Amino acid sequence: MELALPLALIFMLISICQTSAHRNPEFVKAIKEHYFPTQEIDVPNSLLTYIVRVKKGDEGGDGDSLGSMDLHSWYHSLLPSSTRSDQKQNRITFLYRNVMDGFSVELTPEEADALQEKEEVVSVRPERTFSLHTTHTPSFLGLQQGLGGLWSNSDSGKGIIIGILDTGITPDHPSFSDEGMPFPPAKWKGLCEFSGRRTCNNKLIGARHFIKSSNSSLPLDHVGHGTHTASTATGRFVQGANVFGNAKGTAVGMAPDAHLAIYKVCDIFGCSESAILAGMDTAIEDGVDVLSLSIGGRSGPLFDDPIALGAFSAIQKGIFVSCSAGNSGPGYTTLSNEAPWILTVGASTIDRRIVAAAKLGNGQVFNGESVFQPNNFTSTLLPLVYAGSIGNSSSSLCAPGSLENVDVKGKVVLCEVGGFIRRVSKGQEVKNAGGVAMILMNSLKEDFNPFADVHVLPATHVSYPAGLAIKSYINSTSTPTATILFGGTVIGSVSAPAVTSFSSRGPSFASPGILKPDIIGPGQNILAAWPVSLDNNVPSFNILSGTSMSCPHLSGIAALLKNSHPDWSPAAIKSAIMTSANAVNLGGKSILDERLLPADVFATGAGHVNPLKANDPGLVYDIEPNDYIPYLCGLNYTDEEVGLILNQNVDCSQVKSIPQAQLNYPSFSIRLGSTSQFYTRTLTNVGAASVTYNVEIEAPLGVGISISPAEITFTEVKQKVTYSVGFVPEDKKNRGNHPFSQGSIRWVSGNGKYSVSIPIAVVFL
Ligand SMILES: *[C@@H]1O[C@H](CO)[C@@H](O)[C@H](O)[C@H]1NC(C)=O
Ligand SMILES: *[C@@H]1O[C@H](CO)[C@@H](O)[C@H](O)[C@H]1NC(C)=O
Ligand SMILES: *[C@@H]1O[C@H](CO)[C@@H](O)[C@H](O)[C@H]1NC(C)=O
Ligand SMILES: *[C@@H]1O[C@H](CO)[C@@H](O)[C@H](O)[C@H]1NC(C)=O
Ligand SMILES: *[C@@H]1O[C@H](CO)[C@@H](O)[C@H](O)[C@H]1NC(C)=O
Repeated sequence: MELALPLALIFMLISICQTSAHRNPEFVKAIKEHYFPTQEIDVPNSLLTYIVRVKKGDEGGDGDSLGSMDLHSWYHSLLPSSTRSDQKQNRITFLYRNVMDGFSVELTPEEADALQEKEEVVSVRPERTFSLHTTHTPSFLGLQQGLGGLWSNSDSGKGIIIGILDTGITPDHPSFSDEGMPFPPAKWKGLCEFSGRRTCNNKLIGARHFIKSSNSSLPLDHVGHGTHTASTATGRFVQGANVFGNAKGTAVGMAPDAHLAIYKVCDIFGCSESAILAGMDTAIEDGVDVLSLSIGGRSGPLFDDPIALGAFSAIQKGIFVSCSAGNSGPGYTTLSNEAPWILTVGASTIDRRIVAAAKLGNGQVFNGESVFQPNNFTSTLLPLVYAGSIGNSSSSLCAPGSLENVDVKGKVVLCEVGGFIRRVSKGQEVKNAGGVAMILMNSLKEDFNPFADVHVLPATHVSYPAGLAIKSYINSTSTPTATILFGGTVIGSVSAPAVTSFSSRGPSFASPGILKPDIIGPGQNILAAWPVSLDNNVPSFNILSGTSMSCPHLSGIAALLKNSHPDWSPAAIKSAIMTSANAVNLGGKSILDERLLPADVFATGAGHVNPLKANDPGLVYDIEPNDYIPYLCGLNYTDEEVGLILNQNVDCSQVKSIPQAQLNYPSFSIRLGSTSQFYTRTLTNVGAASVTYNVEIEAPLGVGISISPAEITFTEVKQKVTYSVGFVPEDKKNRGNHPFSQGSIRWVSGNGKYSVSIPIAVVFL
């Protein structure tokens, strides 16, 4: 099978590579050899890729007016002579014009030091590697064909261009067919770097690659991740989509009539910083309207985060940027992509389960999930064994080779998740050792949050509590037995949406005064296009989970809103999405997390996206690009650091800086000590011309909230009104020993049509 790599392995590699060991070439080589034994390993040479920033308008003239040839020769002239005499290779890999003034170049550490000495050079630093954050969802989100819905109000995203930075694309997949699509808008300047049999069309209007390795010289997707995310954002209608007969239906993306441009910046080993910058730089130049990045690194200062830098240049041009929040949950402060000018998207479950139940000899039945559901598997009880019964922890995880000494032949085998081993590999190990089926139990961390995987044998993935019950049943009898009953696709789970265990949580590390994530959207067991068939079905689809899957849902929804509200800024679109989000699940109860407990605001942000309501929010909290300058100065960044983000000189002493919570953001994240804090927010009327709103306050436990005025009357569209908010600490005993509490501020229109809500998080100091 050509399928390069299932996603879980990428996640696994990444989790390993993100540890401090990731700079050690020997370690990386060992990992690569272990998992890709048949592939050639690039033995790292002494050249590293560096990102070089230069001063604007020096020596070689004004950078803005230079063509790329001139720019290239100017940058080349700055390089140490040792690199210039190197005729064999062009050391400069990318030129940047939009996201920064500078370039990426391959240098030895000595050459980098020499370059840093040049007067024209601001900074030289080695690039980092970023990771990928790896139907039914349209109707789950209230998008339907026919009259009245958001698809008809927004022409299904017609005329909008969504740019996706990812692993490339499968251009001939029917999800990217251009039947009935108009020509690209006149402003489009992108290129298609496919040739021959594979081409772009009026749907896929651009495809470029920024991966330099020889095997990846086309924007073709060898991983699957890019094909999956692109079809989620903007795939066309494809009937009869399914994987092994499950999740059957019409597959379609969020904005089926939007145009798609793909920027290949990642391969199976991750995404290099120089390529991400080049992809964003190019997409901005090409004329995309929405940028979607299911990619992220560890959080750091905003001026040191290439996605934050690129995104700032994008929003300055009115481009909406949606990014995955990361898959490092459920712990706190685990987010990627925290900049306030980015929409940071966490992941939720959908109401579709692909049910496989573990039935035990004592009659107990535990529902779990699996995509692979063979119809010839016996429903007779078979001997059941716990893989860890010999007391070896690697056996309990069903690690490769660990079941050699465990008697699993002909049995159903209970395995545990974890150990950085793919869930599907555990099934392969059971199969190799002669087991006939697998029950995979969750860890406490993932709890009630099982995954529907394409297993290689009859299997089910059950919750942690179910796993404990199965273990104690095994202990209770000398002849434990079990089987697996396949229940197929079941729609209508009222506990959906729930926050997934892996979805990264706030508070924000880079800017604790901004609440993140912003929003949650579907990211668990998502069916979307795939380069190759897993089950001989054509066209091919796969089911994956990750904030990589939730991000493109929001990118597509942003494209719909851009079509129906062409005059809205990126911040207005984001506000519309956030203030209209759902706080409750399909059953009308609070959104839960993987423990089946109410999810807190650091998991949900504003809540679960509600596209229909986002299209008519009534009011928005708008932000202009320049409003971020006082905010960035208020973060106590130096002038130079703020300048790196703004791409222009900034003198913070001339700017009235503001605390983070004073940015006109559609949420509040407050760190409250013993003194009260006061902020303002400005509402812009985008609903009916003449309308009165009253405030409804849900005060966080232990905090008094004062709002003034409590009633606001608008008399025209686009009118702005400012209100003030006070956060007053109450007696400590009111909050018990809670480290933080949460609430909301909601403006409700007199006729009840509009309800504009923002969440509040208060961390007690
Ligand atoms: C390299 O290209 C071949 C042929 O297109 C493909 O089968 C293989 O998966 C690619 N490998 C990687 C690492 O992308
Ligand atoms: C069930 O069917 C699959 C493929 O159709 C086959 O590989 C497998 O051996 C069958 N299993 C049994 C128990 O008959
Ligand atoms: C557990 O099993 C693994 C793999 O089979 C083996 O390498 C390891 O030595 C075993 N550990 C113990 C404590 O027996
Ligand atoms: C099952 O028995 C083993 C060994 O006697 C013990 O370590 C384990 O805690 C028991 N598990 C449960 C769930 O009762
Ligand atoms: C910035 O510095 C001021 C003065 O020292 C301090 O009051 C404020 O809390 C700092 N802000 C941040 C975000 O660290």
